[in-house]
Amino acid sequence: MGAASAGIQPPGESCMASIVTLTLSPALDSATSIARLCPDAKLRCSEPRYAPGGGGINVARAIHQLGGSALALFPAGGPTGLHLAELLAAEGVPCQALPIDAWTRECLNVVEQASAQQYRFVLPGARLSETEQAQLLAALADLPELDYLVISGSLPAGLAADFIPRLLQTAEQRGARCILDSSGEVLRQALDIGGLFLIKPNLNELRTLAGEDIGEPDQLLRVARGLVDAGQCTAVLVSLGPQGALLTSRELSERITAPTVKKLSTVGAGDSLVGAVTLKLAQGASLSEAARYGVAAGSAAIMTAGSELCRRADTERLFAWLQARAAAGARD
Ligand SMILES: Nc1ncnc2c1ncn2[C@@H]1O[C@H](COP(=O)(O)OP(=O)(O)OP(=O)(O)O)[C@@H](O)[C@H]1O
Ligand SMILES: [Mg+2]
Repeated sequence: MGAASAGIQPPGESCMASIVTLTLSPALDSATSIARLCPDAKLRCSEPRYAPGGGGINVARAIHQLGGSALALFPAGGPTGLHLAELLAAEGVPCQALPIDAWTRECLNVVEQASAQQYRFVLPGARLSETEQAQLLAALADLPELDYLVISGSLPAGLAADFIPRLLQTAEQRGARCILDSSGEVLRQALDIGGLFLIKPNLNELRTLAGEDIGEPDQLLRVARGLVDAGQCTAVLVSLGPQGALLTSRELSERITAPTVKKLSTVGAGDSLVGAVTLKLAQGASLSEAARYGVAAGSAAIMTAGSELCRRADTERLFAWLQARAAAGARD
């Protein structure tokens, strides 16, 4: 039986539940610019800027931005891993870095000034030895508090075949609600195991999972609801970019229209959404309200340049608008 079906009660407003994010492929993100991208020549770059990267790490950063707190758990190796942990600590994000042998990957974002185009070079995540995989699971099992576990981002190559089952089992044993934002095989495998509380695929990720083209809203709802009905997860929140999101569980199905905002950069929208949803749930909000807060944060992330995540003031303003809209809709 999964944690989702184990009858875990959401905490009351007064005591916030604890949130832990797990990032299996963290990254040290570096950003720079060049005049023009061309082969063979030496491409002189501007002074690099460094930022912490990786799904779960950004979810924890988004939660921090929104005034909450989440522990970021991740493997870190070499000077790049050290740098990543230092950057997170400097931002005030609580973190637990598990030392590993391989160096944490460095990803590179390059803006070509002539075209204003962005090139994103994503390196493979650092491999984890079998011992390190076991240590990561043990670290999770030993955490003093674990109410919500957010698993987000890609996975490094070479994980043991039973790593995901053991990970979900550990979360279940701790009685944690699991929120998964991943794609492809991991998403499929985790759903097959069952017991997830929430998954947050985007439309393409859901299409790949379903193995069918999802064109019509009815079809989208059928596919998402099918996962809930099959007991694979308690709820599905499909993010639909500028169209907002669809939330479905056994009790409800709700389309949340995204507010129209001035678009500066779409980077970080998904992580901001997941961070905001988790934070609201941890504060005891309903799934609907949490999903609206998530859409507000996703849209707030669109309003910030580069890889900056959602800002709290923007998120609260958009959330108030979405809440008012939902209340008006309920009265219609
Ligand atoms: N152009 C937009 N205008 C307003 N809101 C947007 C726009 N694009 C995305 N959003 C907001 O961000 C949320 C998440 O976006 P999206 O569906 O693109 O997630 P994603 O594909 O997981 O993103 P990521 O590439 O960051 O992983 C949406 O639900 C919506 O609230
Ligand atoms: Mg995403």
